[in-house]
Amino acid sequence: MGSLQRIFLLILLNLTVSAIVFLTANGATYTSVPNEISGVDVWRSKNCAACHSIFGLGGHIAPDLTNVYQNRNKEYLDLVLKNGLLNMPNLNLSKTERLQLIIYLKNINDLGTYPLKSIASNPFGENNDF
Ligand code: HEC
Repeated sequence: MGSLQRIFLLILLNLTVSAIVFLTANGATYTSVPNEISGVDVWRSKNCAACHSIFGLGGHIAPDLTNVYQNRNKEYLDLVLKNGLLNMPNLNLSKTERLQLIIYLKNINDLGTYPLKSIASNPFGENNDF
């Protein structure tokens, strides 16, 4: 093999490797599952908290959503987010936004229960020692 051919082969190999790296990296951006952080972004940008609360914090003209994930189901949530429901407006959410919100609501649900089932009347003890 002449040296020119060898150089040509090396360049070709380099290009192939670069192309594979490029395609893999780009593929990852499209196929990666949106995480709960982006769900928070949708929650904030769509102003869900103007009407809804989580752990009692937020708006009070609509149901608290802390445990809505376990009280309903994914399909129900997707339907409400897609179409609205009575006084819940249709917010024209994309499929990705709806998925991100449902992931967010599942993560919130996994953090605990609201309203709190029981709460110690005085967690510091009778003498208020702390
Ligand atoms: C303008 C006020 C308003 C905004 C903004 C709003 N909602 Fe609602 N939502 C409501 C009301 C009111 C209901 C209760 C509907 C009914 O049953 O009458 C509701 C119901 C729901 C339900 C169903 C609850 C259940 O137990 O059936 C979900 C889930 C929900 N909203 C999620 C969201 C999310 C997520 C956002 C933000 C993307 C949002 N909502 C924004 C007013 C709002």
